[in-house]
Amino acid sequence: MNKTARDYIVFPLDVASAGEAEELVRLLDGHVGMFKIGLELFIDQGPSVIRMVRDLSRAGIFLDLKLHDISATVGRAMERVAGLGVDLVTVHAGGSFQMLEAAVQGGMGKTGVLGVTLLTDNDSESVEAAGFKEEFIREPRKLVELRARMARRAGCAGVVCSGREARMIKQEFGKDFLCVTPGIRPQWSLLEKDDQKRVTTPARAVSVGSDLLVIGRPIRDADDPAGAAQKVIAEIQEALSKA
Ligand code: C5P
Repeated sequence: MNKTARDYIVFPLDVASAGEAEELVRLLDGHVGMFKIGLELFIDQGPSVIRMVRDLSRAGIFLDLKLHDISATVGRAMERVAGLGVDLVTVHAGGSFQMLEAAVQGGMGKTGVLGVTLLTDNDSESVEAAGFKEEFIREPRKLVELRARMARRAGCAGVVCSGREARMIKQEFGKDFLCVTPGIRPQWSLLEKDDQKRVTTPARAVSVGSDLLVIGRPIRDADDPAGAAQKVIAEIQEALSKA
């Protein structure tokens, strides 16, 4: 199946109740490629929320659990996740290689594993405080690269990284290794007080090679969320036509 501009959009269901999540799925079905279920909703609702999304939409399902534990535990947790019919799951790539490998095996080819390289609220200071060596303190992107290499070797489907590292990831690890980018802000949605510091526009993210763009509040907080998603789709289409 050919990938369309809509398929680039991952919409996070960052709400606390099943009712709100259902409303958003109904509103945005057909306008986004995937729905992302995060910890808040999953802890509150459990697997029933995945069934709800599957019943209401044909979009993909991305479970953002950011797993990090001993290999055996992560492997077994992933087997449960694969049984839920989830397409992608996040695992911290800062764990061991064995943990990533166990996650991939637990996914049984049904659920792809995305390695979380370095959370975007980290900077040189937090990398130093965490005890990393000089090279990574000077250039946190080197840590992103190292972790992506480990994720790739373990058989992960791709990584989550900021728009700033997307080009490097695609160049280093090839077109089949997914690059998922959060912190996306269309020009028209830039808010004065935004907690996402290192933002990228949808057009820029696609032009540097991101395969999936996590876009939440610009769509959710718009007066017309489906219309906002369509505006993003048009922007992605234009960027793809120039690529
Ligand atoms: O577009 P918006 O800022 O609302 O998107 C927020 C979503 O992106 C949340 O689900 C959050 O978990 C996710 N995310 C993020 N920064 C990261 C990784 C994921 O904001 N580095």
